[in-house]
Amino acid sequence: MGLNYEKNFLHMEGVNVKELASEFITPFYCYSKKVLLANYGELKKALPRAEICYAVKANSNMAIVKLLAEQGCGADVTSRGELMLALKCGIPAEKIVFNGVGKTINALTLAMQYGVKQINIESEEELDTINQIGIKTLTRANIGIRINPDVDAKTNKKITTGKAENKFGVAWPEALRLYKKAFQMNGVMIKGISIHIGSQIMSLKPFEQAFKKLAKWIDQLEKEHIIIKNIDLGGGLGVVYNYKKDKAVAAKDYAKLIDTYFKRFKKNIIVEPGRRLVANAGVLVSKVLYNKNIGSKKILVIDAGMNDFMRPALYHDAWHEILPCIKWNRPVNKVDIVGDVCESSDIFGRERLLPELKRGEFVAIMGAGAYGSSMSSIYNYHPLAPEVLVEGKVFRVIRRRKTYEEMLDEQLDDIKYGLKK
Ligand code: LLP
Repeated sequence: MGLNYEKNFLHMEGVNVKELASEFITPFYCYSKKVLLANYGELKKALPRAEICYAVKANSNMAIVKLLAEQGCGADVTSRGELMLALKCGIPAEKIVFNGVGKTINALTLAMQYGVKQINIESEEELDTINQIGIKTLTRANIGIRINPDVDAKTNKKITTGKAENKFGVAWPEALRLYKKAFQMNGVMIKGISIHIGSQIMSLKPFEQAFKKLAKWIDQLEKEHIIIKNIDLGGGLGVVYNYKKDKAVAAKDYAKLIDTYFKRFKKNIIVEPGRRLVANAGVLVSKVLYNKNIGSKKILVIDAGMNDFMRPALYHDAWHEILPCIKWNRPVNKVDIVGDVCESSDIFGRERLLPELKRGEFVAIMGAGAYGSSMSSIYNYHPLAPEVLVEGKVFRVIRRRKTYEEMLDEQLDDIKYGLKK
């Protein structure tokens, strides 16, 4: 829908990516507004009564967050920065859930000042801290407890979060003890329960295993007269990265499963999708710098690197389709597409079949809308890649590239600031 070849030229909606690339300095991210809205629309249609809280960490560009906010979307935030960003983008506090294993006092205080919908607690010390803040500021924090359901999400091991050995959440027996403790506290108000079992989940099975346990725990809480309002099911819905191999869970099947386990409770359902809303709405456009051969291996060096898009380097089996911006009628080669960063892991794709590409021609790395720009850095002293949002035939810059002079001056200013102190 967003990305298509039209007469052999790759287009993002109505914009020819090659023309865009000739106008901009590569690498840059390019997003489709239409795909973004369609992704949100699909989930909202499947879950009309649920609170959809976009996991801002997937892509924290304010233009993207604002677009979702305008649709009525809430936010899942994990830091003071993300909380401030979500508020700035117009998401009301009552649609914001706050997650994370290491929330600071500063961040918690702000979240409580605004009265966010639910702060998901992950340890007893965090509960005690929140209670103390509440007592000191004469507020009650809306809390939930994040439970680690000990299920295997069957995803990349670096992005699985719901196994007992992972650092997230607390085990059920401890959670029950904490609920009872919280019930007696004056600085908190019990609002909900939460889980998040991992990311890029491609089957309903792990969700079902976790939902089954969660439903049982809610029953147990009610038996103890601890009545919650919100059931927060976390994020994790996967997307298709490899069109030949992957099959994503349909939103309506996910919704049906939620109904099966939780409809009887008549409570508010919260979901925290990140990737599902933005991944396939974005590509990273890059230019071929050099062709080289190592033995019999052909290598294509491009001007993007793991600093711009870290997933392939960080998660060894993360697969992203790489497309030429012009569908050339040239001999096809098996090539490794590598970045320009001085790290052996800086590889975007191995043994990919691509038509011969020459220096100065462009490629698009697909599925880069989620955990792309938000995880980028200036490693090797590259400026952060700019971002462009396409709507029909029109595009606009939603993050500009800093000039090297700006980057250098900023650093010099920081050093001067340090000397003055
Ligand atoms: N809720 C919580 C509490 C989370 O920790 C996360 C993601 C989400 C929701 C959103 O998950 P999603 O719907 O996007 O799967 N950098 C990794 C992904 C890390 C996910 C961290 N937590 C990647 O690029 O695959």
